[in-house]
Amino acid sequence: MRIYDIIAKKRDGAVLTEAEIQAFVRDYTAGRIPDYQAAALLMAICIRGMTDAETTALTMAMRDSGEVIDLSAITGFKADKHSTGGVGDKTTPVVVSIAAAAGVKVAKMSGKGLAHTGGTVDKLDAIPGMNTALTEMQFFDIVNRVGCAVTGQTGNLVPADKKIYALRDVTGTVESIPLIAASILSKKLASGADGFVFDVTVGSGAFMKTLAEARHLATLMVRIAASSGKSASALLTDMDIPLGLRIGNILELQEVIEVLNGGGPADLRTVCIALAAEMIHSATAQPVDVCRVRAEELLDSGAAMRKFTAMVAAQGGDTAYLTGEKAWPTARHEYPVRAMQSGYVHGPDALALGRLAVDLGAGRRTKDAPIDYTAGIGIKCKRGAAVEAGDILGILYCNDVEDDLSELAEQASGAWMIRDEKPSASRWIYERITKDGFEEYTG
Ligand code: URA
Repeated sequence: MRIYDIIAKKRDGAVLTEAEIQAFVRDYTAGRIPDYQAAALLMAICIRGMTDAETTALTMAMRDSGEVIDLSAITGFKADKHSTGGVGDKTTPVVVSIAAAAGVKVAKMSGKGLAHTGGTVDKLDAIPGMNTALTEMQFFDIVNRVGCAVTGQTGNLVPADKKIYALRDVTGTVESIPLIAASILSKKLASGADGFVFDVTVGSGAFMKTLAEARHLATLMVRIAASSGKSASALLTDMDIPLGLRIGNILELQEVIEVLNGGGPADLRTVCIALAAEMIHSATAQPVDVCRVRAEELLDSGAAMRKFTAMVAAQGGDTAYLTGEKAWPTARHEYPVRAMQSGYVHGPDALALGRLAVDLGAGRRTKDAPIDYTAGIGIKCKRGAAVEAGDILGILYCNDVEDDLSELAEQASGAWMIRDEKPSASRWIYERITKDGFEEYTG
């Protein structure tokens, strides 16, 4: 089987066999296929697409390229969640805490921030003492004792994705739904949980820009997960505007604590409850609306906050920051973003604020650059708010930036998209996807 023939076959729009896909993944991971041939195949896939069967074969071949974690040392049903990324997306700490409070085990491997989107591991690392590089033994032990743990990726999971993703990143082949589905799902399947909920974000700050693309990706991931014996569902959530009112690591942690204490912004609380309900549903098979009520109770009773505190303590984090006994460090500079005109806010645009947060120091400009945990953006007005020229729309927080802050704030003002006409009402969750199809979200 020659890689040249596989490339030409996909170039001509034919369907690859399982054996051909396995050969590509095996030989590229082992260094037997050069980058230029792998890139040619990825581009052909990007343009020609893949059938569901091809995407399934790619997912499984990638999953099996490295270690597949055996979670059987953890008792009970293990559920996992995955978000396709967003700005101000701080749902994971809340959702795992609610699910664990409901008795679902959550052994969560999370990533660092990517481009303009934040990462859960970076946010948790902002808690002094917190260890997000747990050994497998520590990870399993904490999940068994507490019910949940969040760590960076352990072991040699899906080495094929590391190579393929790096190549896609520089060859214009990230934007392919089958490649994204296989990349995400191979890692989820290798991390060993029994059930998954996918939060597929849609909008300017997300990979998927339209509802149709998001539905396609979510449906593929749910169907492939189900075909490998896992329970799975997905929610399509809005990422045209950031989730919640804060962007940046410590700022977002503060919002996590507000939600876990029964408060916080309505959009964030609603999305967290909906995702947690899906996890409880995957473990118990109770109707989703019953699980949603249960998730709300666990938030409002403080049970989820107690789980989060126990998890942070077990991972070495200083819980005095969660209770307010110790004050979070703050940025040296604060600068207001003001409205340039009167009207209605249609934003703020998630992509613009995500990029701005990186410029302020809250994210990484290069792979290994350090993060400024105190930097970020506070949002004062969101879609639908009526503002007068000069009103404060948001606050920029930073320590050392090369750019002039007043200039940055002036540029940032455009992200709020102030117009004369009132925007339509915001929707936070569009659809729920299961292996049987999709339905409008009505929760
Ligand atoms: N996240 C992933 O892990 N892979 C992709 O291809 C896109 C988003």
